[in-house]
Amino acid sequence: MTTSASSAPTFDEVVHGRRSIRGYKPDPVPKAVIREVIETAMRAPSSLNTQPWNFYVLTGAPLDRIRVGNTERNLAGVPHSREFRTHGEYGGTHRERQIEIAKQLFAAMGIERHDKDKRTDWVLRGFRQFDAPVSIVVTYDRSIHGSDVAPFDCGAVANALVNAAWARGLGCVINSQGIMQSPVVREHAGIPDDQVIMICIAMGYPDDSFPANAVVSRRKSVDEAAVFVGFED
Ligand SMILES: Cc1cc2nc3c(=O)[nH]c(=O)nc-3n(C[C@H](O)[C@H](O)[C@H](O)COP(=O)(O)O)c2cc1C
Repeated sequence: MTTSASSAPTFDEVVHGRRSIRGYKPDPVPKAVIREVIETAMRAPSSLNTQPWNFYVLTGAPLDRIRVGNTERNLAGVPHSREFRTHGEYGGTHRERQIEIAKQLFAAMGIERHDKDKRTDWVLRGFRQFDAPVSIVVTYDRSIHGSDVAPFDCGAVANALVNAAWARGLGCVINSQGIMQSPVVREHAGIPDDQVIMICIAMGYPDDSFPANAVVSRRKSVDEAAVFVGFED
């Protein structure tokens, strides 16, 4: 991570330097550091300051049980049971971007297009949340399920969380692979029925020798994304 002259990285250094991390050192992450990351992330704005998010922070045996259950059920072809709505396959530019990042990751990892074994291995790594020492499952209160606002708020806190982690030398990958088999996550994380599982975030100290960790994903330009209205120039 690039840092400024002072020891703490600037906001822009964190945002521009952060990448999804998919290879971790086995070192445990101190609970105090995770608490600080969550506390910082929860400065995220939310609709009417409702703060609908909750966090189940997993490590050790319970997280390992989720990895095993996830892997077994996915290999057995158990249909996915994510608790948020999806729209089916991506098409057009969205599909192109999905393919671009997959190609970048596979190139870094030396996974050939037709190498089924290595591709399967990569997918299974995802179901194991890339063997990260910590996984944070983000949930929200079921009493407000059905609106798009709570998932929006959870997105805000998740983004703040990965950046707060990065600022402290921790890597993360927000991932839906880890919560695809939601009953497994619910059981081993002890998530009650009054919570909806939104997403999970794998976290740990980055293994700098893991090739995929060096991948920098591309962004569309401001001109592609933004329409400026009412400006003079
Ligand atoms: C809602 C969401 C779900 C994601 N799910 C996965 C996943 O299941 N597996 C994975 O490897 N990455 C997953 N990612 C990470 C994205 O692939 C990644 O953020 C994107 O390619 C941009 O790369 P960057 O984070 O390195 O900037 C997810 C990200 C988000 C925001």
